Amino acid sequence: MLTTQFDPFFKDAPPYLDIETIRKEWLALKPPYDVNRWRLPLPVWALRAFEDSGPRAWELLQSDLTHAEPTKPLCIYLHVPFCSSKCGFCDSYSFQLGGQRESHIESYVERLCYELRLWSKVGNLRSRPVSTVHLGGGTPTFLGETGLARLAQCCRECFAITPATEWALETTASSLTPSMITAMHDLGFRRLHVGVQSLEDHVRRLIGRRSSPRVVLDKIEQTLAMGWIVSVDLICGLPGQTLNGFLDGIEHLISAGVNGFSLYELLIYPQNQRWAEQHSLVDRSHIPNYFMFQAGAWLLKMHGFGKNLFNHWADQRDANVYFTFPMRGDDLLAIGTIADGVFGEYHYRHPRYPDYMRAAHEGQPGLEGGLRRTPQENRIKPLMTAVLSSHIPADLLPAFQARISPDHVSLVERWFDSALVQPAPDGGLELTTNGVWFAGNMINELN
Ligand SMILES: C[S@@+](CC[C@H](N)C(=O)[O-])C[C@H]1O[C@@H](n2cnc3c(N)ncnc32)[C@H](O)[C@@H]1O
Ligand code: SF4
Repeated sequence: MLTTQFDPFFKDAPPYLDIETIRKEWLALKPPYDVNRWRLPLPVWALRAFEDSGPRAWELLQSDLTHAEPTKPLCIYLHVPFCSSKCGFCDSYSFQLGGQRESHIESYVERLCYELRLWSKVGNLRSRPVSTVHLGGGTPTFLGETGLARLAQCCRECFAITPATEWALETTASSLTPSMITAMHDLGFRRLHVGVQSLEDHVRRLIGRRSSPRVVLDKIEQTLAMGWIVSVDLICGLPGQTLNGFLDGIEHLISAGVNGFSLYELLIYPQNQRWAEQHSLVDRSHIPNYFMFQAGAWLLKMHGFGKNLFNHWADQRDANVYFTFPMRGDDLLAIGTIADGVFGEYHYRHPRYPDYMRAAHEGQPGLEGGLRRTPQENRIKPLMTAVLSSHIPADLLPAFQARISPDHVSLVERWFDSALVQPAPDGGLELTTNGVWFAGNMINELN
């Protein structure tokens, strides 16, 4: 049964692919680890309701931040929800603006700057070293060169940006015009997260990507030549995707010099459900996507990429500063609609766009709500962070070994048994690709 799915999927696999290693991991999976029932790791605010209203959260944060360590680094995240058009497959909080585009952009930039200035007056935030300024979306380049320049200037005026601060943004290849690349370079940006999704021509057409694979690679090469670090996002499970096309895409991106790869499985939520129905993806089996994910992970490992996050394969230059903030224990100042941040034990989030734009009052950032981690959540936090980082250090092993699963074996034993973990060179454990696929399930089991 297991082989009847595996062999047809890999029948035309390129000869270099070590399918026996992949087969071994697949065959090791035992209940409760069902490829079709993998879970996403979720933040605490997604698991339970806010305890505090937005204004109360702001009050508590201001009080907490008067006692914060003055040298504790800070990550700044700015969310930009706009895109030139909404891609059918996309599950992120982003949308196309209707009329009055310029005035929406201007008001939003103004609103972000208002919020940045407000936070900069809290406690010692203004003087704490900023590890990264990361613009996510949506498509931050949609703000245009003027909007981006205003934001960058506001960050520099309000916070302790140092020469080591990494300036990063998420973008599509089509929005990387030569003038935009130069403008961002001049503003200090040196890291790109390009949503490549797929380099297969026919898949790109089906998902509405405008640039050809050659153009994507050219733009990546241009920014790499300017000394940027480039990370790409790829999705497994897009319509029309083929194993060989997926692996070829990775090979081309590696040859172009890409520093990091984030691999995702296509997620289907209410916002992309209609598109998924049109492509007959709603009742899909996840197994082919798991096989593709395994093959991609194997190829990246073969090319020497390590992991600094469960689903991110990186070379030596790619520190992935924003996404790895929990591993370093940085605080996260998140600004903008739906952005969620964390200071110590306190998590907060912003509302959706219309509410966010309405909610700024004199002296209020307009938060949606907040909550403090419970003692139990604090106890498992280091364990969760270790799983998310893909590496369980030797000194944390006893804490993992003490956790007993419902079938009375230690969780670690159960994870070994299904090949979710393997010994790491430092005496700890590392997640295998099975572990990456089930990272969210593993975290749920820690509760
Ligand atoms: C929020 S998007 C922003 C990137 C940029 N706007 C773009 O389109 O390339 C960040 C990444 O989320 C991933 N993503 C979007 N929709 C997804 C979905 N339905 N399932 C899995 N990943 C998805 C994509 O890989 C995308 O590059
Ligand atoms: S995939 Fe990127 S460009 Fe497309 S809607 Fe989502 S955020 Fe916007």
